[in-house]
Amino acid sequence: MNWMMPGASLAEIEVMTSSPGETMLAGEKLGGLAPAGTVIALRGNLGAGKTCLARGIARGLEVAEGVTSPTYTIISEYEGRLPLYHMDAYRLSGDEDAENLGIRELFSQGAVTVIEWSERIPGSIPREAWIVELEILDGEKRRIRVNAPAIPQEAFSGLYCL
Ligand SMILES: Nc1ncnc2c1ncn2[C@@H]1O[C@H](COP(=O)(O)OP(=O)(O)O)[C@@H](O)[C@H]1O
Ligand SMILES: [Mg+2]
Repeated sequence: MNWMMPGASLAEIEVMTSSPGETMLAGEKLGGLAPAGTVIALRGNLGAGKTCLARGIARGLEVAEGVTSPTYTIISEYEGRLPLYHMDAYRLSGDEDAENLGIRELFSQGAVTVIEWSERIPGSIPREAWIVELEILDGEKRRIRVNAPAIPQEAFSGLYCL
């Protein structure tokens, strides 16, 4: 795995992974850093590795239970160091749907909320959310970009050398 630190002032990191295991490890690091109330908005195509990353985040939050894709359940809840809400917006028609599901209440629970297909509900994502873009490169290579505006860059310093 190869973490890089671009020169930006916001907490902004990029990691290239070469296997699902590495993506999970990246998620685990992020989950280990996430304070209560963090919203992690995942973006990326089918098969980009969103659920894989979410499994790693769950591990970083010390969730013991197995994490499954919430495509049909929309929202799953897990117990960990902090509660984890794992949401999939794929089947939502948009922000109104998300509001009706009570997405605001989720954000105010002191939990960590991970949202797959967050680009489908752009108006529901809080300003302080961590935005994580997953991009499929060749074969098993994935580019993962994390932008966390409310987190100082130093908070991620442990991620650069794995
Ligand atoms: N570097 C990688 N990181 C994550 N998944 C990968 C990687 N390389 C290959 N894969 C495969 O891509 C798929 C990702 O699936 P999943 O995490 O469910 O994606 P999404 O939730 O974005 O649709 C899995 O079949 C996984 O084995
Ligand atoms: Mg998924």
